[in-house]
Amino acid sequence: MALLFISDIDDPAEWGAALKTFEPAIELCVWPEPGAVEAIDAALVWKPPAGVLKRFPNLRLIQSLAAGIDHVLTDPELPQGVPVARLVDPDLTGQMVEFALLAVLSRHRHIERYRRQQAERQWLLHGPTDTARCRVGVMGLGAIGGAVARALAGLRFATAGWSRTPKTVDGVETFSGTGQLAAFLARTEILLCLLPITAATEGILNTELFERLPRGAYLVNLGRGRHLVERDLLVALESGQIAGAWLDVFQTEPLPRDHPFWSHPAITVTPHVAGWTIPRSAAAQVVENMQRVKAGFSPRNLVERARGY
Ligand code: NDP
Ligand code: OXD
Repeated sequence: MALLFISDIDDPAEWGAALKTFEPAIELCVWPEPGAVEAIDAALVWKPPAGVLKRFPNLRLIQSLAAGIDHVLTDPELPQGVPVARLVDPDLTGQMVEFALLAVLSRHRHIERYRRQQAERQWLLHGPTDTARCRVGVMGLGAIGGAVARALAGLRFATAGWSRTPKTVDGVETFSGTGQLAAFLARTEILLCLLPITAATEGILNTELFERLPRGAYLVNLGRGRHLVERDLLVALESGQIAGAWLDVFQTEPLPRDHPFWSHPAITVTPHVAGWTIPRSAAAQVVENMQRVKAGFSPRNLVERARGY
């Protein structure tokens, strides 16, 4: 089985070794020198350059190296009829849970304020802290958002979640659809975005949404940069409608050096590092999906192209 590997950030040697522990016969063909195009059965990709995947006439599977799938679906020449699968991986989900908790706890326990106070040698107390009254809202209740909401509820946060279709999550107040978005936002003091980017969610973090949150709400965007209208966030911070934000993803990555977010006192910037795909953990499902398509079955975690996730 020949697997095309395309990624600027993942290590092909580490992936090759991890894949071979599950299927010794896999041959990893690394872009941009993949060898004979006819031999390639499947592609394992992060941000494949537009137009590249259509060059492989016998491709039976496009497997994302990530949970998000926008980096594949944006290719205008993506071969039709080839199934696209995304990663649903417990280690990746676990990392996203860690990162979301880090951002929420940092806000809830005033860590940024204490850091600034330390610089000024100020001994000032902010509290007391009543976690059960801290209202956190998670946009997206999928593999990652659902796990984040459960973890927050497990720490006693008053947690709500919002999804496209109705969901039940233990200990979490759930809302769904555009009809219930306003009610979800009205009760949310710390808002986490864990949505996929689709036609319906692009630019969803905008002035209109910010105005539906209680004044002084905090935003954590771990989804995609295109969810956020960056100018609208700056305006909302200026007015005090939004008190601060933790942003891991941006319209342009790497974030340009002259971007105002870098130096904004109320914004924490991290360079798209909330979740990493670990070959040791994720390789088994890649091999399983290759075997499934070879045997004529659909891959697991198949993306619905028309839906966008
Ligand atoms: P899933 O596909 O499992 O879940 C997506 C969730 O979003 C579902 O609950 C879905 O609703 C909901 N949703 C989709 N469209 C809408 C809509 N229009 N309105 C309301 N809810 C909607 O995705 P994952 O949980 O695996 O991943 C979520 C995203 O996290 C990824 O797409 C990626 O962008 C981001 N990510 C970021 C990382 C980082 O390092 N910063 C790392 C990993 C992921 P429903 O349940 O009804 O279908
Ligand atoms: C992902 C990511 O979607 O790393 O998995 O952004």
